[in-house]
Amino acid sequence: MEQFAFNHPHRHRPFDDVSPAIRRRAFGVDYLHLRGQQSGDLYLTRHGWSVLGSVVPSQWFTGDRLSKVGRQLAGATGAVYRMPVPHQASDRFALVVKFSRFAQQALVSMDPKEVRDWAERDRMEAPEFLSPFVEFGNLEALRADAGTRIRTQTPLAIYSPATRYLDWELGRISHSRWRYDRALADDQASQPEDARIAYEWERLYILLYRWIDGIDAEVAAEQGQLSETELVDFTHRSRRDLRNLGWDVLDHKPRHLIVRTRGEPPRLMQRSDQIPWALIDYELLMPYPATV
Ligand SMILES: Nc1ncnc2c1ncn2[C@@H]1O[C@H](COP(=O)(O)OP(=O)(O)OP(=O)(O)O)[C@@H](O)[C@H]1O
Ligand SMILES: [Mg+2]
Repeated sequence: MEQFAFNHPHRHRPFDDVSPAIRRRAFGVDYLHLRGQQSGDLYLTRHGWSVLGSVVPSQWFTGDRLSKVGRQLAGATGAVYRMPVPHQASDRFALVVKFSRFAQQALVSMDPKEVRDWAERDRMEAPEFLSPFVEFGNLEALRADAGTRIRTQTPLAIYSPATRYLDWELGRISHSRWRYDRALADDQASQPEDARIAYEWERLYILLYRWIDGIDAEVAAEQGQLSETELVDFTHRSRRDLRNLGWDVLDHKPRHLIVRTRGEPPRLMQRSDQIPWALIDYELLMPYPATV
């Protein structure tokens, strides 16, 4: 199990007071970079730094595997887990542990009824999953634009274990790597040379988010809390809200919308006649309208 030296003098310092030697910045997001005893890399966001004791890999990762308490999430096409971890103040604190699929083939289908714009459909046919640092960058930009209007999972950290894999084990398409490398190198050009981040293609990248309580809208419909028409309306309306803020999720769907219930029998929570919702899954979160 990889250990990080957390007792170093920075641990109780506020994020902004930590030594510049471990500060990193990528796509508009600030990180603190810790190196594990086996040379794994942990990049903590400001939010992640404040819950460091819950985020450190020894809480949820045993060597090459996730520790047993994790639950793989149903309905996922990738590898996504809910991991309960200890937290100073909350006994319900849990992480979403998501293995980045960047540079892998993204298969996204679109209902023909949804196609209004064929150029958009073509983009959908050949989407690329965001790389880890762009995913956090886009998400933080959306959070800044949305304020309290749209809730999201809080991005906590990016962890890259030291283990190296063969190309075929990770399924990354070699001819798409240069685009990711170039985007990151362009972004990092403004950083001091010894603080630049680069992707290592033989390694895994794991994104850590804070779990949001609730159920996805598809489950809410299955449980009878939303009718079929309400579900369709809600899905369209939420996409419109996102687009009005300048963002879009290419595979926008009810499973990516989290709602909350209350009472027995459970009823959907409402706020001034609207259903408050949270967005999950940012691997295809792009600016809207698309810039290319
Ligand atoms: N905070 C949450 N609350 C409730 N359910 C959740 C939450 N986070 C994830 N899930 C469930 O886990 C599923 C998988 O998560 P996610 O969409 O991130 O995985 P994915 O592999 O990217 O799936 P897809 O390919 O469908 O986008 C979600 O569709 C949802 O049903
Ligand atoms: Mg997804």
